[in-house]
Amino acid sequence: MNRQMILITGGAGFLGSHLCERLLNSGHAVVCLDNFFTGSKDNIAPFLDHPSFKLVERDVYLPYAQEVDQIYNLACPASPIHYQHDPVKTIKTNVYGAINVLELAQKNGAKVLQASTSEVYGDPHVHPQTEEYWGNVNPIGIRSCYDEGKRCAETLFFDFHRQFKIPIKVARIFNTYGPRMHPNDGRVVSNFIVQALKNAPITIYGEGKQTRSFCYFEDLIDGLVRLMESPSEMTGPINLGNPVEFTILELAQLVLELTGSRSELIFQSLPSDDPKQRKPDISLAQEKLGWQPKTQLKEGLEATIAYFDQLLTKNALF
Ligand SMILES: NC(=O)c1ccc[n+]([C@@H]2O[C@H](COP(=O)([O-])OP(=O)(O)OC[C@H]3O[C@@H](n4cnc5c(N)ncnc54)[C@H](O)[C@@H]3O)[C@@H](O)[C@H]2O)c1
Repeated sequence: MNRQMILITGGAGFLGSHLCERLLNSGHAVVCLDNFFTGSKDNIAPFLDHPSFKLVERDVYLPYAQEVDQIYNLACPASPIHYQHDPVKTIKTNVYGAINVLELAQKNGAKVLQASTSEVYGDPHVHPQTEEYWGNVNPIGIRSCYDEGKRCAETLFFDFHRQFKIPIKVARIFNTYGPRMHPNDGRVVSNFIVQALKNAPITIYGEGKQTRSFCYFEDLIDGLVRLMESPSEMTGPINLGNPVEFTILELAQLVLELTGSRSELIFQSLPSDDPKQRKPDISLAQEKLGWQPKTQLKEGLEATIAYFDQLLTKNALF
């Protein structure tokens, strides 16, 4: 194995901490840069003392110097509650953060991967979404700080690639869930599980007929690593997500069944710009990375429910 020095921005978050763990277990040296806005020390506690792990408490919108071979840029709050808390900061994180990691890659001759999102497709008119689709995004809505921030970051990645020959990788991540998700960030899977475990009403927006596809974190992390290790011409953008579609109502019913909860379902009005359908076309990832998700929703939910159940019992967090 060729040991690499790898920077992970947002490394103390849900996905970032799993990526740190995966890369440390593969024998690499990992630098985790995070400002702990939504990430936590608990997420990285298992490897804080690992000799190949370094924590840098810092904001990604400030330039940072470090010798690196690879950079995964994950720093950005991912849930609407958190990214809408300070929308101007969210755009700065996306845009300045992208510029900073790209310039760092340029100085070091490093490869850099951007954690982009299915939100770049907005409320899509094409279903399922392929990478060629340019999206249907409201540029002035309340989700725009995130959606347009991520779109601008993609633009920066491709401009740095064309102009300065920086080796880039752009992954468009679709809904991913699993242990270490923030318990109170309003994302649908964690929301439903926490509400069910507390026997509190499960909040469904609209009639619950909108669809989503849910990818388990282990599958997603595997896709990110495969993309980083893929040949240089494989820049992406490439969709990574689970193509099996569920309605929000089906998800709620499955969570109720698996938790044995007494929660009732309550229906509230849809938030603005909420996409009606979301499903990745993953043909490109299948063909170019030999990747596809392996974990069934039921199996992934059981592990995630066990995590939140333990958190609830141990910390009385909720
Ligand atoms: N989980 C998903 O379903 C999903 C879907 C699409 C895209 N993504 C992208 O993947 C990345 C990771 O998402 P996640 O689900 O782990 O979210 P998360 O909120 O758990 O992790 C984000 C991490 O970035 C850190 N961070 C935020 N702003 C920062 C800043 N300015 N400087 C330094 N650190 C900062 C947070 O403290 C946190 O540790 C994000 O970029 C997100 O947009 C995630």
